[in-house]
Amino acid sequence: MPTLNDIRSTFLGYFEKQGHKVVPSSPLVPRNDPTLMFTNSGMVQFKNLFTGVETRDYKRATTAQKCVRAGGKHNDLDNVGYTARHHTFFEMLGNFSFGDYFKQDAIPFAWELITRELDIPKDRLLVTVYHTDDEAAEIWKKVAGLSDDRIIRIPTNDNFWMMGPTGPCGPCTEIFFDHGDKYWGGPPGSPEEDGDRFVEIWNLVFMQNEQFEDGSMRALDAQSIDTGMGIERVAALLQGTNDNYATDLIRALIEASADETSTDPDGPGKTHHRVIADHLRSTSFLIADGVMPSNDGRGYVLRRIMRRAMRHAHMLGARDPVMYRLVPALVRQMGAAYPELVRAQALIEETLKLEETRFKQTLDRGLKLLDDELTGLGDGAKLPGEAAFKLYDTYGFPLDLTQDALRERGREVETAGFDAAMAEQKAKARAAWSGSGEAADLAIWFDIAETHGATDFLGYDTETAEGQMLALVRDGKAVEALEAGESGWIVLNQTPFYGESGGQVGDTGWLRRLENEGDVAEVTATQKMGGGKVFAHQVTVTSGRFARGEAVALEVDHDRRSAIRANHSATHLLHEALRRALGDHVAQRGSLNAPDRLRFDFSHAKALSPQEIAQVEREVNAFIRQNSPVTTRIMTPDDARAIGAQALFGEKYGDEVRVVSMGALPGSGKGADGQTYSLELCGGTHVAQTGDIGTFALTSETASSAGVRRIEALTGEAAMSELRGRDLVLGEVEGLVKSRGADVVARVAALLDERKALSNEVAQLRRELAMAGGAGQGGGVDVRDVAGVRFVAQVLSGVSGKDLPPLIDEHKGRLGTGVVLLIADADGKAAVAAGVTEDLTGKVSAVDVVKAAVGALGGKGGGGRPDLAQGGAKDISRSDEAIRAAEAVLEG
Ligand code: ALA
Repeated sequence: MPTLNDIRSTFLGYFEKQGHKVVPSSPLVPRNDPTLMFTNSGMVQFKNLFTGVETRDYKRATTAQKCVRAGGKHNDLDNVGYTARHHTFFEMLGNFSFGDYFKQDAIPFAWELITRELDIPKDRLLVTVYHTDDEAAEIWKKVAGLSDDRIIRIPTNDNFWMMGPTGPCGPCTEIFFDHGDKYWGGPPGSPEEDGDRFVEIWNLVFMQNEQFEDGSMRALDAQSIDTGMGIERVAALLQGTNDNYATDLIRALIEASADETSTDPDGPGKTHHRVIADHLRSTSFLIADGVMPSNDGRGYVLRRIMRRAMRHAHMLGARDPVMYRLVPALVRQMGAAYPELVRAQALIEETLKLEETRFKQTLDRGLKLLDDELTGLGDGAKLPGEAAFKLYDTYGFPLDLTQDALRERGREVETAGFDAAMAEQKAKARAAWSGSGEAADLAIWFDIAETHGATDFLGYDTETAEGQMLALVRDGKAVEALEAGESGWIVLNQTPFYGESGGQVGDTGWLRRLENEGDVAEVTATQKMGGGKVFAHQVTVTSGRFARGEAVALEVDHDRRSAIRANHSATHLLHEALRRALGDHVAQRGSLNAPDRLRFDFSHAKALSPQEIAQVEREVNAFIRQNSPVTTRIMTPDDARAIGAQALFGEKYGDEVRVVSMGALPGSGKGADGQTYSLELCGGTHVAQTGDIGTFALTSETASSAGVRRIEALTGEAAMSELRGRDLVLGEVEGLVKSRGADVVARVAALLDERKALSNEVAQLRRELAMAGGAGQGGGVDVRDVAGVRFVAQVLSGVSGKDLPPLIDEHKGRLGTGVVLLIADADGKAAVAAGVTEDLTGKVSAVDVVKAAVGALGGKGGGGRPDLAQGGAKDISRSDEAIRAAEAVLEG
C-alpha cells in the first residue's frame, strides 16, 4: 500500500521523466499576487507564466504545492473535522505546461499516471468536461476508451476554473473515483453528487483565458496546462478508504494527538483529533512561512485556526498546551519533503506554546460564559450577537470559534448583532482618537487604519511582493490617484517595505503598476502611521497614474536594505561586545541604522580607552567571522527577559515580542541563555548569517550627553572603503616621511618636535631683530619725546599679533617710563598693540592709544587694559597716520 510520501514521489518522478522540471513548493504567502491571502493551488507561483508576463528556462514543470484554504475565495475552515475531505491545509500535486503541450498530451499523461503508475482500476474512473468542450470529450474517448456515460458534460462553473476574481482561467476536466455503492452518493452533475461515493481526485485546467476585474475576459496568447491532484484523496483510495483522515500521514498526526491527550483516537473525541491534525499542519506551515499570530490580516487567520484547534484540545480534557508537542510528529511525517518545517521547528513550537498558554487563561471562563448564555435560551434560538462579541472582545474567541463551539450543540450565532457590536466598538475607538488631541493631519492615518486595518508586513521574508493600493494621500488629504510628477503617500494591503522604527530607517524602492510595469512611483521613505498600524510609502510618481484599488508590484531597494540589515545586526553585536568589555551598566540609549553607517548611544560615564575600542572592534569582527545563523523567535516579554534578552529600558512592549539572537558560544556557558552571544528584543530586519555583515570598523567614540557615549561605525563595503582610504593616506605619509609602519609615528613625532623648536627659534630671532631695528623693520626704534612722554613707535613685518605683547614688555623694560606703539603687518592685515608703563597709566591709557591708531588705519575698536591694549585693522599702508594719531593722544 503506497504511503502518501510514496505517491508524491511517484507523481513528481513520472512528470520528471516526461521532461518536466521539479520545482519546489512556493511559500504559503504568495509573493506574486496583490490580494490572494494564501497560496491555494499549485498554479499560483506560475501565474505570470500563464499570462505571458514572465518566461523561465523551462516550459514544463511539476510540483507538490502546500496550500491553505482558510480565508478568501476558497475557505474550508468551517467544515474541517466534520467531513472526510475538508482541510485548511493540503498538498496539491500538479503538472504544468506554459505554452508547450495542451489537451492532447495532458489527458494521456494523466491517464497513464493514474492507471499505470498508481494502478487505479479503470472501471472505477469517470470524468467530467465543460459542456462545450467536445475536443476534451473526444480525447478521453480515444485515450481512455471511456464510454459516453462516463464522460459527463458539466455546464456550470464547477468545470471552469478560476484562481480568484482575476487572473488566468479556463475550462477543465475532472477525474472522479467511484468508491462503490457502500457509500451514498451520485455521479457529478447528479442531485446526489455531494455524497461520499464519487470523489474528484484530479482537475486538469486548460488555461486559455485571463479574467479581469471589470468582468471582461481575454484569450491568452498561449494555451497552457495547470493541473491539481489532491494527494490526500488519492492516498485515501489507494489505501482502501474514502476518508482522508484515515490515510497514513494524517492518521499519524491523529494518533499523536490521541497519545498526548491520553484519549481514544476513534472514540467520542474523534472530531477533535481530526481538527487538531488538520490545524496542526496549517498552523505549522504558516509559521514556517513567516506568518505570526496577530489581530489583523493573515496573522488573524492563523490565530483563528490555532485557537480553534486549541479549543478542541481543551474539549479532549487537555489541561496543558498540546499543540506544540505534536510538532515533532508532523516534522517526522513531512520534514523530508518540506525542509522549511525542520528549519522552523523551534519557532513553530514556541509560537504554538505561547499562543496556547495565553489562550488557556481565558478559554475556561469564555466557555463558561457561553454555557451560561445558552442555558437561558429557548430551543433553536441563536446566541445573541452581543454575547458572541463579548467572547471575542474579552476572551479572545474569534467568531468562527464560537460558531464552531455552537455547532456541537446545533446552534448558531446571531451575526448581525455581532457585526453591530463590532461597529460600535470601532466608533468608540475612533471617538477616543479624535479626543486624544492628535494633530489634525494625523487623523487621516487613523481613518485609514480604521477603514483598512493594519498593513500586512512581509519584509522579514521578502523584498518583493504584489499589493493593492488601498489609500492615497496628498497634502494631508485622501485622493483618488497620484498623477505623474506628483508626490504623496500610498498605503497598500501588504508590503515588504520596512517602516522606520526602532532606529532602523524606512526602506526605499519602487512601485510598478501591474497593468503597465512602465508606470513607476519611486518610494523615497516608508513610515508607520496611525498608531504604527499603517505602512505609508512616500512616493513621487515618475510616470503613469497610480489610482486607488489598483495592483502594484513592490520592490525594495535591495542593496540599500542589505546595507541597513548589516548595520542593524552589527549594532546588536556591538551592544553585546560593549556590555562584556565595560560592564552590565551599558544600556542602549539610542541608535541609528542607516544604509551608510550605524550609530549607537549607550550609558557609560567615561571615554573608552584605545584598548577598549580595539577589544570591542575585535570581538564584533570575531562573531562576524563565526558566520552563525541569526534567528528570530516570538515570545512574551517575561519569557524574553527570563532568557536574558536585552530590552530597551522604559520601552513599552506588547504581549508578544520578537527576540533576535546571533552568535554562538559553544559550551562556554557565558551567554545569557548559556549558548547565545547576543539576545535582543527587536522588530528590525537582520542578516541571515553574521558573516553577511562582512566587516566592522569603529570610526568614532565621543560623548553624546552626560553619562552617554556615542559610537559610530561602518560595516561591509563602507567599512572596507573607510579602511582602504585610511591606508592610502598612511601610504602617502609613509612616502613623504620616508619610513614605514610603526616607524612613521616616531618619524612624524620627531618632525613635529623639530618644527616646534624651529618655530620657537624663529620667533625669538624675529623679536631680537625687531628690538634691534634691523633690516626690513621700518620705523626704527628711536625714542622720541612727545608732550614730555618717552614714546617709541615701530612698524614690523612678519610678526604675528600674538608676538606683540612680549615685544611691548621688552620695550617697556628698556624705556623705564614711556609709551610704546607697535603696528605689525600680519598676512596683509594690521595688528596693533600699545603699552604704557605703570607710572603713566594715570595719565594716558594704552586703550586710547590703540583706538586712535586703529581708527587712523581705517579700523574700529581695540581694547585691553590701561597698560596693554590690542586691536586690528585691515590696512597697514596708513601706519604713519596711525603713529601721528597716537602722538596726538599723548599731546592731549
Ligand atoms: N488550479 C486547479 C485547481 O486548483 C488545478 O483545481
